Amino acid sequence: MITAQTIRDEFEKAFAAAPTLITRAPGRVNLIGEHTDYNAGFVLPIAIDRAMWIAARPRDARRVQMIALDFDGARSEFALDAPILRDDANAWSNYVRGVAWALQARGVVVPGIDLVVQGDVPLGSGLSSSAALEVCTATMFVELARAQISRVEIARLCQQAENDFVGVQCGIMDQFASALAQQDHALWIDCRDLSYRNVPLPRGATFVVCDTRKRRGLVDSEYNTRRAECEHAARAFGVAALRDVSLAEFQRREKELPPVVARRARHVITENARVLAAVAAAETNDLATFGALMNESHASLRDDYQVSCAELDALVEIARAQAGCWGARLTGAGFGGCAVNLVRNESVARFVENVAREYSRRVGIAPAVYPCQAMSGSQRVE
Ligand code: GLA
Repeated sequence: MITAQTIRDEFEKAFAAAPTLITRAPGRVNLIGEHTDYNAGFVLPIAIDRAMWIAARPRDARRVQMIALDFDGARSEFALDAPILRDDANAWSNYVRGVAWALQARGVVVPGIDLVVQGDVPLGSGLSSSAALEVCTATMFVELARAQISRVEIARLCQQAENDFVGVQCGIMDQFASALAQQDHALWIDCRDLSYRNVPLPRGATFVVCDTRKRRGLVDSEYNTRRAECEHAARAFGVAALRDVSLAEFQRREKELPPVVARRARHVITENARVLAAVAAAETNDLATFGALMNESHASLRDDYQVSCAELDALVEIARAQAGCWGARLTGAGFGGCAVNLVRNESVARFVENVAREYSRRVGIAPAVYPCQAMSGSQRVE
């Protein structure tokens, strides 16, 4: 387990001095509201009890020197007074570089530092390790620079780093959850105006994450295709984003759209409605309704949005067959990665055991199955 003590020790080993600052930012699991963020819609993620950590110390030279403990102590370094470039041999460092770049573009004077970074968010499994690293980095730089920047703006700057520096066209959900979530709550976000609300988690049940351990191959190109299809649909309806189309309006005019585009639009429009219904269900502790909405979300992602895969479908099917499982769905972009399940507290231990055994037997891969807790967003630890 990573703690302030363990990361401080690692920093001292690497740089023979004590760090002056430790920051931490969590990964996320989205409960419902998938592929809606870039359609100006609604999402409902939690920040999880797995995070990226940075220990840092300012230095005189205007350079950033980074050590990644998760990559065998790989090093990467860049100057702050020259154009910041990517280091694709150390792709992990591009998230730190991108955030420094976005902050400087916003007029923040980023100080030179030494840092070590380490995390326990599994990489490439759809739990947003990259957003966590961005938000952890931004929190550190903003603290050291004593800049007045709100958390919402931190999330936006991190998204900008990912879009324009790293080159991945993500929405705002992951960075927003990592920066703003509250313990024991899900975070309802309106991705149009970035207003948000903390929603208490349903009581008596736990969200259990199941990782298919299938690496997400197609995700980047397919993600961009889906985005383009959504934009196509929005243009056809004459609106800024699919958020603005009601189900009635969609049903009246869906025949005018190419069939694939119509399916994509139907997913987004119905998913937005499911998020609102899920918030109401959480607030009245209606586990059955919340779970049913998760199941509907998965079906829509599988059939209309077509971002599931055989492994995710198997996992969800196995999960739903277990006692005490209220609902199961893929979470994140899809094409592999994780599913999230709502499981009655008393049934969690059994669920974990049975799902792991059954999935291994059927798919031939051992999954990772673990309950997760909703934690607070990024913070300065020391
Ligand atoms: C990825 C992106 C998010 C969001 C999800 C799908 O996680 O980073 O912005 O679009 O996919 O809901």
